[in-house]
Amino acid sequence: MSMKDEHDKDLAGSIEEVLENAARNLERHSTHGHSIARMNDGVGGLVPLQLEERRLIHREESVRRQSDAFREIRTRLLGIAGEQNFVTLVVSVSPRSGGSFVARNLAAAFAFDEAKTSLLIDCNLRYPSQHKALGVEPLAGGLIDFLEQPALGIAPVLYRTGIPRVRLIPAGKARENSGEYFSSHRMGTLLDSLSSRYPDRYLFLDGPAIKGSPDARILSDLADFVVVVAGYGRDTPAAISQAVTNFDPEKMAGVVFNDLP
Ligand SMILES: Nc1ncnc2c1ncn2[C@@H]1O[C@H](COP(=O)(O)OP(=O)(O)OP(=O)(O)O)[C@@H](O)[C@H]1O
Ligand SMILES: [Mg+2]
Repeated sequence: MSMKDEHDKDLAGSIEEVLENAARNLERHSTHGHSIARMNDGVGGLVPLQLEERRLIHREESVRRQSDAFREIRTRLLGIAGEQNFVTLVVSVSPRSGGSFVARNLAAAFAFDEAKTSLLIDCNLRYPSQHKALGVEPLAGGLIDFLEQPALGIAPVLYRTGIPRVRLIPAGKARENSGEYFSSHRMGTLLDSLSSRYPDRYLFLDGPAIKGSPDARILSDLADFVVVVAGYGRDTPAAISQAVTNFDPEKMAGVVFNDLP
């Protein structure tokens, strides 16, 4: 058996274990929170095929392995955090490694549980992608528009997606000097109010890659957890370790190796 096979076997074992825990977790959570299960998202959920076209996970067998991986991360985060909701920052080591892909699928995995809702916030102000990926037309603007004019309120920039219980705050107007916005008092206050308003709401910040921008580190100050996404066979171990040193070790939830198609 090659090293790789052994590794895969170990991985399969640990995923199985984690899934058992996830099932228990789901059972525990499904006994309460019925009000969220009935929350009207206005649009029907996308059917599996549409979800696959948009490269989103769903519960069908065809993408089971991939969705298991996201459930595993979800279970780990819930295990560390306990009952408290939290803010997770997802960032790639280098551009195009799949950070946004992981962020939106993780948001979807949390919302599989009918007692939870996810709010994905596109914090990649230079190259925002979530609105396109989720088929949202940000007619009322997004995060930047709110930060520039908080008097307008956050409600207009909270968009429904095709996924039940998953909402999106798109980036809004493209901006170069995004660090300024993220270190602002307003941004901190916004996240606090978004997470304290609904205790079942989990926040996901989709940030720009660690390489080439200070934003990922600045955003990590606002997050409870950081998930780093490495392009499998793309980002070197040295680059990954270097990237991880940007963050408070207490917040590091793990590194996801994303096998890009
Ligand atoms: N595991 C995967 N399976 C299928 N498609 C993927 C996967 N990972 C990434 N992609 C696709 O690859 C492209 C790049 O991924 P993504 O936008 O998530 O990367 P990123 O690291 O966020 O890039 P950026 O630096 O622009 O923020 C997207 O079209 C995404 O849907
Ligand atoms: Mg991205």
